Amino acid sequence: MAVVTLRRATPGDIGYIMMVERLPGYDYFIGRLDADQHVQQLNDPAINYFIGEDEAGTPIGFTILSGLDNRDGNICIKRIAVAVPERGHGSRMLDAVVDHTFSTTPVHRLWLDVVKDNARAWKVYRKAGFKDEGVLREAAVMPDGQRADLVMMSMLRPEWAART
Ligand SMILES: CC(C)(COP(=O)(O)OP(=O)(O)OC[C@H]1O[C@@H](n2cnc3c(N)ncnc32)[C@H](O)[C@@H]1OP(=O)(O)O)[C@@H](O)C(=O)NCCC(=O)NCCS
Repeated sequence: MAVVTLRRATPGDIGYIMMVERLPGYDYFIGRLDADQHVQQLNDPAINYFIGEDEAGTPIGFTILSGLDNRDGNICIKRIAVAVPERGHGSRMLDAVVDHTFSTTPVHRLWLDVVKDNARAWKVYRKAGFKDEGVLREAAVMPDGQRADLVMMSMLRPEWAART
């Protein structure tokens, strides 16, 4: 199986990240920031940006973690997206993000929320070992102005340890 590696993003990656954020249809599932907002976040010690790369070193997607400073060890996968969906890239990048986060930080609970209609992402998270925690009813406003439910999911350190 093709390996995905992670590297910390730099300001030079912001154009790539913004391109992926703006792929057709992605606005329904993920937020998008402008360049200044990304620069600000890149400089925030509580936030980590990663680029996922294939074996040739070509970027396949990005992820943003937040809450690195959380007192209780709750780190959030704030955003994850791949440039070409449905080729296994997202699953492999997510596995790399999970392993990297549990291996390199004191995180206890790695969490995320997903738009309930985003069946593809929900499937990928479940496959990676995330468990449903509950539903935030009508918590998100979609690009068309409609409200959507968010599903909270998490993986706890003992669950990660049992998988590895
Ligand atoms: C979510 C995302 C990162 C997943 O990455 P990906 O590379 O597309 O996913 P993969 O190819 O690794 O896996 C997709 C899985 O979903 C399944 N799937 C695809 N469409 C589906 C659907 N409508 N319902 C249920 N499962 C679906 C595929 O069969 C596959 O499962 P399998 O591995 O068991 O065959 C990617 O699709 C993406 O960037 N989407 C846009 C942004 C986004 O939604 N980000 C997540 C926000 S919470």
